[in-house]
Amino acid sequence: MPHSLERLSFLLILVTSCATEPKVVPATPSPPPPPTVPAGSLLEVQIAAHRPSLLAGLDAPSERKTLMKEIAKQLGVDCDYCHDVADFAAATPNKTIANYMFTHFAVGLVRKSDEPTTCGSCHQGQAKFLGDRGDKKRIAALMKTTLTEPFVQRGGGAAECATCHGDQLNRPFLPR
Ligand code: HEC
Ligand code: HEC
Ligand code: HEC
Repeated sequence: MPHSLERLSFLLILVTSCATEPKVVPATPSPPPPPTVPAGSLLEVQIAAHRPSLLAGLDAPSERKTLMKEIAKQLGVDCDYCHDVADFAAATPNKTIANYMFTHFAVGLVRKSDEPTTCGSCHQGQAKFLGDRGDKKRIAALMKTTLTEPFVQRGGGAAECATCHGDQLNRPFLPR
């Protein structure tokens, strides 16, 4: 190869290799993650799916445990508050109430704020939060501000005293 041609092909190689050399790409924001389950909020997933009970459709033992831990935390209790820990499948009054609240309240009521109705929406870390039931006037006022006004019924219509109490107005009505 004549000297000048050799130079030319060297230059050509240089040019083409420069052109194909990947440029340093400026950092672009990574694409948003695909819509998935918010970590640690299996309860919200169950609510959004309108499940017929707390664990319905959740088969993996690890997921069942995660959800159970979530509700225990929202109520500020340990597992034995609801369970006979020698037999987690055994029926207990608080298990019955927990599933009742899941279907009637968490799934059945929608918060006007658009946030999901979780156990914590009402319980805020306490299993019992009504206080002295003897003072019916105080309780009724509390019911109005914290259990009635923030909600509408999922099927439509205002949440009213009778939405939860049925014909047991001002009286206990929970399944015990
Ligand atoms: C507020 C009440 C409540 C608390 C607290 C609670 N659970 Fe549960 N648990 C339930 C209910 C209700 C069911 C049944 C769910 C259903 O029917 O879908 C259940 C079911 C279970 C099951 C499945 C039992 C079976 O039928 O095989 C296990 C296991 C379990 N819970 C473990 C736990 C553990 C571990 C904790 C503590 C981290 C805990 N639970 C805390 C209410 C509770
Ligand atoms: C719309 C409000 C509301 C929501 C949502 C709600 N609860 Fe409750 N829950 C109550 C009220 C009111 C009581 C009575 C508290 C008291 O006696 O001080 C109660 C009581 C209970 C009790 C009985 C406690 C006891 O010792 O007597 C359990 C168990 C319970 N709730 C579980 C749950 C679970 C689990 C969820 C979520 C799946 C939930 N609740 C969601 C309002 C709610
Ligand atoms: C979101 C559901 C919900 C709504 C809405 C609601 N309540 Fe309640 N209320 C409860 C629950 C749950 C209890 C505890 C019942 C039990 O222990 O069986 C309760 C208990 C009470 C009690 C105490 C009863 C007793 O003797 O122990 C009174 C009084 C009361 N409610 C009045 C009202 C009034 C008045 C309204 C309307 C302004 C109202 N509630 C709306 C869920 C509700």
